[in-house]
This record gives sequence, structure tokens and C-alpha cells, in this order.
Amino acid sequence: MNLEVKNENYIEDLYWRYATKKFDKERQLSEEDLEKLLESVRLSASSYGLQPYEIFVIKDGKTREKLREAAWNQPQLTDSSHVLVFANFKKIEESDIDAYLDNIARTRNTTREKLKGMEEMLKNTILSFSEEEQRIWGAKQTYIALGNLLSAAASFKIDACPMEGFDKDEFGGILGLKEKNLMSSVIATVGYRSEEDRVQHLEKVRKSKSELYTIL
Ligand SMILES: Cc1cc2nc3c(=O)[nH]c(=O)nc-3n(C[C@H](O)[C@H](O)[C@H](O)COP(=O)(O)O)c2cc1C
Repeated sequence: MNLEVKNENYIEDLYWRYATKKFDKERQLSEEDLEKLLESVRLSASSYGLQPYEIFVIKDGKTREKLREAAWNQPQLTDSSHVLVFANFKKIEESDIDAYLDNIARTRNTTREKLKGMEEMLKNTILSFSEEEQRIWGAKQTYIALGNLLSAAASFKIDACPMEGFDKDEFGGILGLKEKNLMSSVIATVGYRSEEDRVQHLEKVRKSKSELYTIL
């Protein structure tokens, strides 16, 4: 990596970030910082803009103890400031598409009538997916939001750890997702790194540009 590129702030932030293993238990996100993070995630792109997911933001200590047990006892679940659970829709209903179209009409001061073409396209496409395809498609969208969270957190100098190491069924039970047509796909813990976390000092391991990119 040439130094000029490395010194650009955003790239520097991405070097600074790492999947935090040990959080400083004493440091919590301020309301303002949490708000900035959540707003960054809310603005994530999604296919058609549908955002077929919800995100649980968990501060409560008792809930996090339970989640930790269902996440191979990983300490980030309790030692971070907040846990974010990304949960995609298990099944996408016609009413979900209608709610989205209503939102567009409201936000852009237009009518559902004018959105008829879009409505047909969305319903014909998404409702023709099998339930499994809908679930996978929904889960993919949550990973875009996760990526956004990681980059935004880095730029605000907030630490985060993305995590797939947890039991989805158990999380579903603890958070009452089953009753809500939701299924957890991925989680992230956010807060501030502990000085003792040795992982922060390790070099980043990434493919070289020539391994990663084919430039045609
Ligand atoms: C989808 C996803 C799931 C991950 N799951 C875990 C996890 O359960 N526990 C953990 O400590 N790290 C987890 N990681 C962190 C990765 O191991 C880490 O991002 C990777 O080794 C690259 O290191 P870096 O992010 O520190 O640059 C996960 C990362 C991603 C993107």
C-alpha cells in the first residue's frame, strides 16, 4: 500500500479498525455516538430499498448474559457497550411491499397510483421467490448494513466486532424473534477496545491487490 493512500483519513480509519476481541468494560457509547452509528446503518443501501430486516440494539445486561451463553461464551457480548442483532424477515409478505410503497408515497409526496408500475415489478419479483430464497436474500441485505456499521464505526473511532459465532435458534428464543417472522443473521458488538487487547497491534492480513482484483 503506498503511503499517500494509507494516509488518507478514511483508509487510515480502516487500518485502525479491527474485529475487537476485548472491549473496555468501563467505556460506554454516548447517546450521541450511538445515534450517529444507528443513523449510518439506517442509511444503508438495500436491494430495491426494501430493507427486509430489523435491528435489535441491546444494552440490557441480563439479556446480554443470555446472548453470551448462546454465542459460545464470547466475552464481547457482555463487555462491549451495545450488541446489535441484525434479523432478516423469514418470509416477505405482500403487506411488507405495500408498507414500503406507502413510505415512498409519503416521503416523496406522491400517490400509490403513480407507483403502480413499481408495485407490480416488486410484487412479481419478490413474491415469486421461494421462502428460502426470500430468507437468503433478506439475510444478504443485513450484511450490507453490517458493512456500513463497521466502516461508520471506524470513521467515528468506535470499535466493533462482527460476529457469526452464535446460535440463531437460541437468539431467536431470547429475543422473541420467532413470533415476529424474524431470524437473526449476523450480530455486531460495539464499544471501545481494551488496551489489553493484543489483537489491535497485529498487522492486517489481506490478499494483495493482484490476488484480489482482476482489472480488465
Ligand atoms: C460475518 C463475520 C463474522 C465474524 N464472526 C466472528 C465471531 O464470531 N467472533 C469473532 O471474534 N470474530 C468474528 N469475525 C471477525 C473476523 O475474524 C475478522 O473480521 C477477520 O479475521 C479480519 O480481521 P479484521 O476485521 O480484524 O481486520 C467475523 C467477521 C465477519 C465479517
